[in-house]
Amino acid sequence: MTPLHSPPAAVLAFDDEAPMAAALAQALGVPALPIARHRFPDGELKLRLPPALPPHVVLLRTLHPPNERLVELLIAAPAARELGARQLTLVCPYLAYMRQDIAFTPGEAVSQRHIGALLASRFDALVTVDPHLHRISRLDEVMPGCHAVALSAAPLVGAWLARQVERPLFIGPDEESAPWVRRAAAACTPAADHAVCTKQRHGDREVQVTLPAGLDCRGRAVVLIDDMASTGRTLIAAARLAFAAGAASVDVAVTHALFVGDAVDALQAAGIGRVWSTDCVPHPSNAISVAPLLAAAVPRA
Ligand code: R5P
Repeated sequence: MTPLHSPPAAVLAFDDEAPMAAALAQALGVPALPIARHRFPDGELKLRLPPALPPHVVLLRTLHPPNERLVELLIAAPAARELGARQLTLVCPYLAYMRQDIAFTPGEAVSQRHIGALLASRFDALVTVDPHLHRISRLDEVMPGCHAVALSAAPLVGAWLARQVERPLFIGPDEESAPWVRRAAAACTPAADHAVCTKQRHGDREVQVTLPAGLDCRGRAVVLIDDMASTGRTLIAAARLAFAAGAASVDVAVTHALFVGDAVDALQAAGIGRVWSTDCVPHPSNAISVAPLLAAAVPRA
């Protein structure tokens, strides 16, 4: 990888991320340039980039849904270099494939390491938000040779919640959510009450959550906080327990609003009130902008 040496001069982005591209470009003070896509009848993709690119290009791509977007990156990154970019920073608000971080049964591929290495081989730098780092502490452990920056939206989420909910009780649905819950609670004045559940996963949609012993939810405005919601089943299991323990209301705040399938309807059916998320993944629940956070972390020189 070439050393980082010049300020970013353009944001390259796909049409389905136009609002984030515009916000990021504005925060960086550079233009947003489009990548056009054509899908052939057999499913292959053709990408068209601006024909002449500046030395340092920021490529924006959030990895939800993950697989096709990874292919886009595999094509767009070398194409950008052929068109003049010598320095490539990937701004990837949601970095997929971080949860498979060990072989849970013999023979399972450790996707976190392999996808991390793949992106590290194509980009000089990567900026992301709340990647699911559970068994490693730093993203560069799985991104050799890449300047990898892992930001946290938890303080922004906490500050947002402090304005929406009076005297909230933040609950994380599993042990892995503890760092986000702590940081979000610390961003409130005074610091919000908080607790973390334990979780056992039995399948894609089967989870068993246990509230911490003695947690008093009676009459409380509970907010469940997690890095991501996919099927929503983790949040639903935690919400049911909170209501059973006397919570007056249960709302939800996540960094990454994947919300696949019937997730949002199922949350509502479980009695969950408001659902808020950052704009790392475009979704109707987006309420908290991370563009300034991302822009501030893009390498300038
Ligand atoms: C994993 O531990 C994550 O932090 C989330 O709790 C999990 O991915 C949520 O998945 P789902 O919404 O499918 O229960």
